[in-house]
Amino acid sequence: MTSSTALCTGRVAVVTGAGRGLGRAHALALAAEGAKVVVNDLGVGIDGSGTATGPAQEVVALIRAAGGEAVAHNGDIATAEGAASLVATALDTFGRLDTLVNNAGFLRDRMLVNLDEDDWDAVMRVHLKGHFLPLKHAAAHWRAEAKAGRTPCARVINTSSGAGLLGSVGQGNYAAAKAGIVGLTLVAAAETGRYGVQVNAIAPAARTRMTEDTFADTMAAPAEGEFDAMAPENVSPLVVWLGSPACEGVSGRVFEAEGGRITVMEGWRPGPTADKGARWSPAEAGDAALKLLAEAEAPQPVYGAR
Ligand SMILES: NC(=O)c1ccc[n+]([C@@H]2O[C@H](COP(=O)([O-])OP(=O)(O)OC[C@H]3O[C@@H](n4cnc5c(N)ncnc54)[C@H](O)[C@@H]3O)[C@@H](O)[C@H]2O)c1
Repeated sequence: MTSSTALCTGRVAVVTGAGRGLGRAHALALAAEGAKVVVNDLGVGIDGSGTATGPAQEVVALIRAAGGEAVAHNGDIATAEGAASLVATALDTFGRLDTLVNNAGFLRDRMLVNLDEDDWDAVMRVHLKGHFLPLKHAAAHWRAEAKAGRTPCARVINTSSGAGLLGSVGQGNYAAAKAGIVGLTLVAAAETGRYGVQVNAIAPAARTRMTEDTFADTMAAPAEGEFDAMAPENVSPLVVWLGSPACEGVSGRVFEAEGGRITVMEGWRPGPTADKGARWSPAEAGDAALKLLAEAEAPQPVYGAR
């Protein structure tokens, strides 16, 4: 099934939340480029409730039917045991780990005043902790490899969101977690580069069960024969490249990916600045802030803001 120019020949990739949606597309695309894939999915409902082994097994079956190699992992990636066994599954089954795609997650959307503590905790846990723990266990393995003189060509792709980069009305928990993933990506890239690890993040947009109802107007399938811009498979080629040796030198970056468009997101950086060389009074600080704001670029609109 793999072409001679495949980007991931000989590599082993782990994809979290790969039983459905974007993760499923990434797992299939990585396998099509020659990677052996650990297909993780807890099989939860759209709000994180319940569990099922079916989604991961189905993707494994698809990869095997196409001539590839894959194994299912049904653990919860937001637990230490789940994250440790995820990395162990790659090492025990295929003998190595090269690429980690952190993708699993779910939503509990509410306006802030209606957002229960449980919905805050559940969304922070699955996205933020669910990125941190697999990254930590994978990075510990790669650091050990580097210390043993086998510096890896390791790649991590984290999954942020436009909600985390620009804000999104009704998604305070999700936006905070996805913004946190960008901070985690920057730190991980800076800390693990010396062990041969590159860490980047994507902010995807695609039609999955997570988006097809909420954004029904923009997610509609196209007419027969037209480019399906919202198909999850459109996001995966960038993920495959970021998961391969071909992206050497690219780390700590955030890309938006949707349809046929890839955008480098340019993040926080110092804008207009003023320094009094001494402490401002509150009124002076206000005057200075207003002057600087008049010189600064206007912020991007928050998604869903009127
Ligand atoms: N679809 C979009 O337009 C969009 C936009 C921005 C960001 N994202 C992000 O992309 C990622 C994938 O989303 P999707 O749209 O494909 O959603 P999806 O619901 O289709 O797939 C997510 C998968 O993650 C699994 N999962 C959830 N919690 C898990 C856990 N604790 N352990 C293991 N697996 C778990 C689910 O069972 C599900 O199969 C998410 O991180 C999401 O926030 C999606």
